Amino acid sequence: MSKFHALKISNVERETRDAIVVTFAVPSELKETFRYSQGQHLTLRTEIAGDDVRRSYSICSAVQDNVLRVAIKRAPGGAFSTWANDTLTPGATVDVMPPMGHFNTPLSPDHRKHYLAFAAGSGITPLLSIIKTTLMAEPHSRFTLFYGNRASSTIIFKNELSDLKDTYLDRFNLVYVMSREQQDIELFNGRITGEKCAAFFKQWIALDDIDTAFICGPEDMMHGVSAALQAHGMPKESIRIELFAASIPRHKHVAHARPAIGRQQCEVTLIMDGRHSSFIMEKDKESVLEAGLRQGFDMRYSCKGGVCSTCRCKVIDGKVDMDVNYALEDYEIARGFVLSCQSFPATDKVVLDFDQDT
Ligand SMILES: Cc1cc2nc3c(=O)[nH]c(=O)nc-3n(C[C@H](O)[C@H](O)[C@H](O)COP(=O)(O)OP(=O)(O)OC[C@H]3O[C@@H](n4cnc5c(N)ncnc54)[C@H](O)[C@@H]3O)c2cc1C
Ligand code: FES
Repeated sequence: MSKFHALKISNVERETRDAIVVTFAVPSELKETFRYSQGQHLTLRTEIAGDDVRRSYSICSAVQDNVLRVAIKRAPGGAFSTWANDTLTPGATVDVMPPMGHFNTPLSPDHRKHYLAFAAGSGITPLLSIIKTTLMAEPHSRFTLFYGNRASSTIIFKNELSDLKDTYLDRFNLVYVMSREQQDIELFNGRITGEKCAAFFKQWIALDDIDTAFICGPEDMMHGVSAALQAHGMPKESIRIELFAASIPRHKHVAHARPAIGRQQCEVTLIMDGRHSSFIMEKDKESVLEAGLRQGFDMRYSCKGGVCSTCRCKVIDGKVDMDVNYALEDYEIARGFVLSCQSFPATDKVVLDFDQDT
């Protein structure tokens, strides 16, 4: 079910002092499996000091580029990103799960849209894919990107963005916001916050001209920008968010004060690759993912923290309660999707379908 494939690395480029760009060689028999949409991410897996370590990395290439590429920024003290930055070389092999995620909107050559994007640090990776893909696929659409960094030396994809600006002079507007390097326009100094966005919306960008806004970066930026967009009249459904959650604290499940109604045990049925398998678990002791893994099921996951959506599935029968959710949008929850790593059964029977995507 987790379907990792050992992919050979064809190229590793040092993009900044703290970030590498890794290109995978996808053999022809896996081309279809690794076909992706702009804004999707890969789960990479390795073993570090005997531990199975999995992390999500967004694809940074455009769909039309026909290459599979991710950028990995070193998180201070971070297990996977440090390992990747220090050891990955061309010819090495990494376990990679096929592309996942829904951080995008449908494209059409007939669209005449104006998209807005906010990125901070490595949050640029899915946005580069989205911006490049969109500008190529929609010849009448425009993109404006606000990109926050400490200084010019830390900007990931500085050259590629500059090339993009040269190619799409009239359709791509790029604004750098720097927290530790003075720029001429005072508004572009500091961090991207809700207050700064309010000033952007007054002086630089008319929100009623924007169709969709994309936000990718740390949690505080994401909330600040999203709140500012909504306060200035942008509907929540027009705001797409991807959280890069290296900083999310691990949530600890708090058992219900009263036992859940019915029996204490639940019969969980998993539908994976068309097969139905069932097991019994206690309702309030561990998540469905943990219980399934303990029972030996090959369930897909990465962060186990409600962030990456790798463990996303649809509730077909019964009900689960989710502890936290940083990954699913309101429309996905309305359609019955949940994160199995955060789900605790609330009924005596639960059926979860991992094969459904929409
Ligand atoms: C959908 C998605 C897409 C992503 N795309 C990208 C991308 O394109 N590029 C990218 O670079 N990243 C991306 N990320 C983030 C990435 O998945 C990792 O979270 C990131 O690389 C850090 O992983 P790590 O193993 O290096 O750090 P971890 O070992 O997970 O540690 C993260 C941070 O927490 C600190 N920490 C660890 N343990 C403790 C502890 N016990 N107490 C206190 N602090 C601790 C570490 O020092 C570090 O700063 C994405 C995340 C998601 C969810
Ligand atoms: S494993 Fe990341 S959200 Fe569940």
